[in-house]
Amino acid sequence: MSRGNNSIREGLKSYFSRRARQYDHSSGWVDDKPLINKIRRLARVSSRENLLDIAIGTGKIAQAFTGRAKYVVGLDICPKMAAYAKGKADKIFLADAEKLPFKNDSFDACVCRQGMQFMELDAALSEIYRVLKPGGRVILCHLAAYGKLDSKEAFLIQKLRNPARKNFFLPGDFARLMRNKSFADIEASGYITRESVNRWIANSAIDEDRKNKIRKAYVNSSRIFRRLHHIEFKDGDIFDSMKMVIVRASKRKGA
Ligand SMILES: C[S@@+](CC[C@H](N)C(=O)[O-])C[C@H]1O[C@@H](n2cnc3c(N)ncnc32)[C@H](O)[C@@H]1O
Repeated sequence: MSRGNNSIREGLKSYFSRRARQYDHSSGWVDDKPLINKIRRLARVSSRENLLDIAIGTGKIAQAFTGRAKYVVGLDICPKMAAYAKGKADKIFLADAEKLPFKNDSFDACVCRQGMQFMELDAALSEIYRVLKPGGRVILCHLAAYGKLDSKEAFLIQKLRNPARKNFFLPGDFARLMRNKSFADIEASGYITRESVNRWIANSAIDEDRKNKIRKAYVNSSRIFRRLHHIEFKDGDIFDSMKMVIVRASKRKGA
């Protein structure tokens, strides 16, 4: 790994270390039960199967599988985030998702919610493919823009919130990337999460200057952005219906 990559990793760990304590309350989607249930249903993990939660964070997704899957493994690069996941997975690895510490064909299913925006996508998707058993499923769930019309403004706001973010997604991006990686049975669906911007930016990793820039971006946002995101200014807060994309795919049976 180059020194440049090392310092990006350190920046990422430091960002999530500062957020870890408040993380579970930092966005509506973190603890959104219908969203979590949707991911669980799509993964279709039986009691005989094992699951890998990539970028487990504080364990909100892994937790939904405990008692349902035979064995739940979590992995994260940030020790402080993973410390909060203790007890929500059978085993937690501190490692980089771009270089998974698992043998080929290890897991029946993999999930990753809101982690891929920080990773080299080519490496991370190749690793998921490698560690899945043939026929194994992967579910990815990530914030995206609605499309080209709001992408510039949505990506600016996302970058201001988290400068460690490497990737910004349009709705069709994951399906295309996964097709290129030989995944099969690719299905994508959308999910809308209504977020209070005050809550979304109330974390100790965002300084006042960036918080003000985010508010200003909403105040100055275009008509089309406001329409697509159902932006509402109410009681000193701003409400944004953000789009998430959920992609389900599987590793080819003969692979
Ligand atoms: C926004 S949180 C999502 C946590 C959890 N998946 C959830 O849905 O609540 C992103 C997580 O990705 C982790 N992460 C980022 N890059 C990573 C990498 N290359 N390898 C492993 N974990 C990574 C961060 O440490 C953080 O815990």
